[in-house]
Amino acid sequence: MLSQGSVDVRAGVTAVAHPNIALVKYWGKRDESLALPVTGSLSVTLDIFATTTHVTLAPQASTDMITLNGDTAGGAAAERVQAFLDLVRRLAGRRERAVVESVNQVPTGAGLASSAAGFAALAAAAAAAYELDLDGRALSRLARRGSGSACRSVFGGFVQWHAGSGDGSAGDVSSFAEPVPVGPLDLVLVVAVTDAGSKKVPSREAMRHTVATSPLYRAWAQASATDLERMRDALARGDLPAIGAIAEGNALGMHAAMLAARPAVRYLSAGSLAVLDAVDALRADNVAAYATADAGPNVVVLCPRADADRVAETADAIDAVRSVHLARPGPGVRLQSEHPGGDER
Ligand code: DP6
Repeated sequence: MLSQGSVDVRAGVTAVAHPNIALVKYWGKRDESLALPVTGSLSVTLDIFATTTHVTLAPQASTDMITLNGDTAGGAAAERVQAFLDLVRRLAGRRERAVVESVNQVPTGAGLASSAAGFAALAAAAAAAYELDLDGRALSRLARRGSGSACRSVFGGFVQWHAGSGDGSAGDVSSFAEPVPVGPLDLVLVVAVTDAGSKKVPSREAMRHTVATSPLYRAWAQASATDLERMRDALARGDLPAIGAIAEGNALGMHAAMLAARPAVRYLSAGSLAVLDAVDALRADNVAAYATADAGPNVVVLCPRADADRVAETADAIDAVRSVHLARPGPGVRLQSEHPGGDER
């Protein structure tokens, strides 16, 4: 599925990936350099906000060239991509530099830029360009090294990232993502983009700080292991109220652990709380709506498709909500034919 097959890698390789929203969150690493998580996590890949990344090898160039949405990338973002390309080159035994052009469909200023979609697309395109023939599991392990949550965007639908066991190469080999079975489930995810407020701590740093200083972190990590098992059961049954309740509890627990860090990390804004209030009110009115939020003020509401319009209208009516986007479970990463109108593979 993901091998380069008949793609002419000299012309470059394009990959497309979507962001994912974790229903049981990843928050904390046990090994920073290998991106091994403290806990397992489980997400749903979305069908909106795709990232498309093109990688071409540049044998004459002395440095990698990286553009993000048409602008040359610099600073920390470029360094992260370069470090990832160095890893791919080490694995492939190659030396050529690369030209990376990445475009994402996220509305600008929405605070939704996704490192998960970005590194899943980069992993697939770079692996193919450097002729590394990886299966889905190996590709997810590679994407993990770019950004932990990216390992889950390698697959579509509902995806579990196994924490794996041990450190070093034992941890590396055992920490991968794979799809999980789901029963009949007509899920819509309503993304409520709220006022961003002041610029927040990058999630990588906030994660490290929470693990190091929050007295609630261990309790959340322990509860997460149970949440993961219960989430798998609820998914297998297609039991949306159970899925939603576990997801909401797990997300709020993660935010509680951050709030207890010293000093506190606070991503939820007044606008986020207004959306949480509206979700409570919908539930009181017998709508199976449940909320989750990542390292930012936006709130994602899970609900049955039949209630999606009502949930979206409710979210849209909140002053602090800037825009509302409806998503469904979406596809995993895939290579795209270079030829306009050509087959996606
Ligand atoms: C809150 O995957 O962005 O979205 O591995 O440091 O790149 P790094 O972190 P990242 O963290 C995502 C955290 C989260 C929860 C989740 O997606 O599980």
